[in-house]
Amino acid sequence: MKWFSHAAFAIENGEHTVLVDPFFTGNPLCSIKPDELERVDAIVVTHGHRDHIGDTEYLAKKHDATVISSVEICNWLGKRGVKKLHGQQPGGGHSHFFGTVKFTAAVHSSSLPDGSYGGIAMGVILETGGKRIYHSGDTALFSDMKIIGKNKLDAALLCIGGNYTMDVSEALEAASMLKPGILIPMHYDTWEVIRQDVVSFKNKAASICDVRILGINDTITI
Ligand code: NI
Ligand code: MN
Repeated sequence: MKWFSHAAFAIENGEHTVLVDPFFTGNPLCSIKPDELERVDAIVVTHGHRDHIGDTEYLAKKHDATVISSVEICNWLGKRGVKKLHGQQPGGGHSHFFGTVKFTAAVHSSSLPDGSYGGIAMGVILETGGKRIYHSGDTALFSDMKIIGKNKLDAALLCIGGNYTMDVSEALEAASMLKPGILIPMHYDTWEVIRQDVVSFKNKAASICDVRILGINDTITI
């Protein structure tokens, strides 16, 4: 798995590459250009905000990749010429060619860059390559994270930046409910308003779980 900064990840299972929230263009932390990505098989989009839908339209067209997101976001992308789309909503989940995608609740909004309604904002549980990974999307703390943590998570990718999402202290509460094998903090330091002391977060969370601070464009094997 690779972290591009913010909420953008590439998850590789040895056969397929799945992007989550691929925000490259306009991302002040990430120097990678969308054209530098060699392989994209699927793109999971948690909600419509520009820093999450990001370069989805461009990358989906270029790589003929399948976009998996809310029904509303898929409809919006379809009108813009993206061909392979799979709309879902929280609950149940669906088996795709690379693994299972199950969307969860998220306490957040979801409008698209042109102001269109994007459905509800979501988090996602991805099962691929025998691993179970929770990407929180943008969310406030919510107590149903206890339910998400009931089945063992190999990794949780949690927003910690505050202002728009959970901050450090809320992400600590989330960690207690989720009890992931490893916790990767995300959605911080991209702009001044979400600046956080990630090292102090790691220290505070150390008694709860194994926090791995990734540098921009770092890869990690889960
Ligand atoms: Ni957002
Ligand atoms: Mn965001």
